[in-house]
Amino acid sequence: ISAEANIFLEINKAVATFYHIYLNSKYGAEGRLYLKKRGVSSEIQEKFLLGYAPLNPTLLLKYLEKKGFSKDDILKAKVLYFIKDEWKDPFAGRVVFPIMNPRGKVIGFGGRTLTGEEPKYLNSPESDLFSKGKNLYALYQAKESIKKEGEAILVEGYMDAISLHQAGITNAVASLGTAFTSHQAKLLKSYTNKVILGYDQDSAGYQAGKRALSLLELEGLEVYWLSLPHDVKDPDEFVQKYSKEEFLRFVKESKTSLDFLIENTLNLPMNFKEKLEEIIEILTSSILRSKNILVQQEKIKQYLPVISRKLGVPEEGLQ
Ligand code: GTP
Ligand code: MN
Ligand code: MN
Ligand code: MN
Ligand code: MN
Repeated sequence: ISAEANIFLEINKAVATFYHIYLNSKYGAEGRLYLKKRGVSSEIQEKFLLGYAPLNPTLLLKYLEKKGFSKDDILKAKVLYFIKDEWKDPFAGRVVFPIMNPRGKVIGFGGRTLTGEEPKYLNSPESDLFSKGKNLYALYQAKESIKKEGEAILVEGYMDAISLHQAGITNAVASLGTAFTSHQAKLLKSYTNKVILGYDQDSAGYQAGKRALSLLELEGLEVYWLSLPHDVKDPDEFVQKYSKEEFLRFVKESKTSLDFLIENTLNLPMNFKEKLEEIIEILTSSILRSKNILVQQEKIKQYLPVISRKLGVPEEGLQ
C-alpha cells in the first residue's frame, strides 16, 4: 500500500470517527431520531460506526486539520470539496455508513437522506481505494460468522445487512445496490461455498438476483434463493415486522436458485411456448456455467424429468 493510500485511510478513519462522535453529541439528535425510528440499536450503531454529518462542513475540516491532515490531502482524499470559495461536505445532513474493507479499514462512505432528498443514498466517489463493486458492506463484521456457518446471506442494502446483524444473523453482507459484480462473487468465494440470495422482493431485485446468481455460479458457488412473503419489500422490513426465528425458517426453506427460477417461471403469466423457452434458457445457461462435467450431467439428470412432467413435454425432446 502506497504512502498516499495510507494517508487516505487515516483520513477516512478520522472522518468516520468524527461523524460517529457528532451523531452521539447534542447536535446529532436528528440522526439519532432517524435511526431510532428505523429500529437501529445503539450497540449496532457502535458496531458499524454509524454517524451523522453536520450541515456545516467547517466542523469536519477543523477536526481533520487539528489531527494534522493538510487541506491538500483532505481534498485529494475527496472527503470534503472546495467549490466556489466554499467548503462542501457531500454527506451534510445525512446518516453515514462507513464502508470497510475485510480488514476493517474505512475505504468509503454511504449516506442516507433523512428528508427524502434525491439520491436516497449517496456514495463516496470511486477511487483506487474505494470501488463499490469490489467490496461487500458488512463483510468485516460478518466474515467469522460466514466461515462458521458455512454460508453467507447476500442482501441489497445497508439497512438489510444492519437489521440482520442486529437480529443476530451475523453472516449477512450487502452488495450495495443491484449491480453485483464478479469481483464480489470472488470475494465471497474466498469465505464460503454457499450463498443465500436475499435481494428485494421487487422486479429490480428479481432481475438483479438472476445476475448475481449467474456470477456466483460461475465462481462455483452453491446458490439458494430466499423468497420472503410479499407484504415486505426487503429483509430489513421482514425482521422488523416478524422475527429472527421466522427469518431463519425462510432461510432454511429456501430452494436452490435453479429450483426457484424454474418454479417461478411456471407460475408466470406466459403461454406454454414462452415458458418452455424461458425454462430451457434458465437450465441450459446454468448447466453451461458449471465447469465440472459431472455437475452438468447431474443437473440434466435431476431437472429433465421435473420439467418434462411439469410442462408435459417428453424428456427425449427436451434432451
Ligand atoms: P431504505 O429505504 O433505507 O430501507 O433503503 P434500501 O436499502 O431498502 O434501498 P433500496 O432497496 O432502494 O436500494 C438498495 C441499496 O441500493 C441501498 O442500500 C443502496 O446501497 C443502493 N441505493 C439505493 N438507492 C440509491 C441511490 O439513489 N444511489 C446510490 N448510489 N445507491 C443507491
Ligand atoms: Mn462510539
Ligand atoms: Mn429496492
Ligand atoms: Mn430495499
Ligand atoms: Mn429497505
